[in-house]
Amino acid sequence: MERIERLQRLRERRGAWRQAGLRVALVPTMGNLHVGHLSLIHEAAARAERVVASVFVNPLQFGAGEDFSQYPRTLEHDADMLRDAGCDLLFAPAEAEVYPRGRAAQTVIEVPGLGDQLCGASRPGHFRGVATVVAKLLNMVQPEVAIFGEKDFQQLLIIRRMVDDLDLPVEIVGAPIVRERDGLAMSSRNSYLSAAERAIAPRLYANLVTAAARLRSGASCAAVEHEAEQALAAAGFEPDYVSVRRRSDLATPDALSDSAPDRALIILAAARLGRARLIDNLACDLDAPPA
Ligand code: PAF
Repeated sequence: MERIERLQRLRERRGAWRQAGLRVALVPTMGNLHVGHLSLIHEAAARAERVVASVFVNPLQFGAGEDFSQYPRTLEHDADMLRDAGCDLLFAPAEAEVYPRGRAAQTVIEVPGLGDQLCGASRPGHFRGVATVVAKLLNMVQPEVAIFGEKDFQQLLIIRRMVDDLDLPVEIVGAPIVRERDGLAMSSRNSYLSAAERAIAPRLYANLVTAAARLRSGASCAAVEHEAEQALAAAGFEPDYVSVRRRSDLATPDALSDSAPDRALIILAAARLGRARLIDNLACDLDAPPA
């Protein structure tokens, strides 16, 4: 696996692959990799001849008082994991390579509507930072396809919308959430949990499973959201939101409509547990036959 830090060198490598007619897949990450990331690398390898992973802890997507400075930086370990997973190129630029004029002077990308709600409401500017860095990484690497985890479902939809709005020539693929055996969605931020918090953390997913069952049995979205938030608080979380949305566009579903988008739902949740802000989601198809 080749390691590149400079954009110029990346462009040379990318140019050589283009000349050779090789398809390229990109997996953007902030490092501190876990098994969930490796599933993205495998998805990428199934879709292209060359796999590029980027590791860049993007300062633009962290708000004041968030964990930018403490975010775990484990580049050597990440490189080993990527090499073993079959990644061809690790792009790990320094901040000055990505934002040469400085953070404040950077041209930014705003995805209105989708970016202002749910996690965007509690983390103002977060999705502006994500959209900006992802647009830059897509332009730097120029992949045919880029893979993102469905755990960050709102992020995935925002990136799809940005790519569509800006006519970027890349296919965006979502990869399923990878869970620990007890249901906890894998996340770099799980490492912030104490042993006691780690024992509570799977309740986030368990509550989504209960919420989905309640929705399918006819409970209203408002009731399900309220019950799930109460249950999270009782388990020791500080819930930020539990929200039932349409999977296609994150709009609030119309309970009186029989249209397919109002029946194909997703329950999204964010909650703080100790130092960690955990997010998770679960699809809930109201027309699916009972399991
Ligand atoms: O999901 C992440 O790890 C980050 O938001 C991303 C997409 C790599 C952008 O920094």
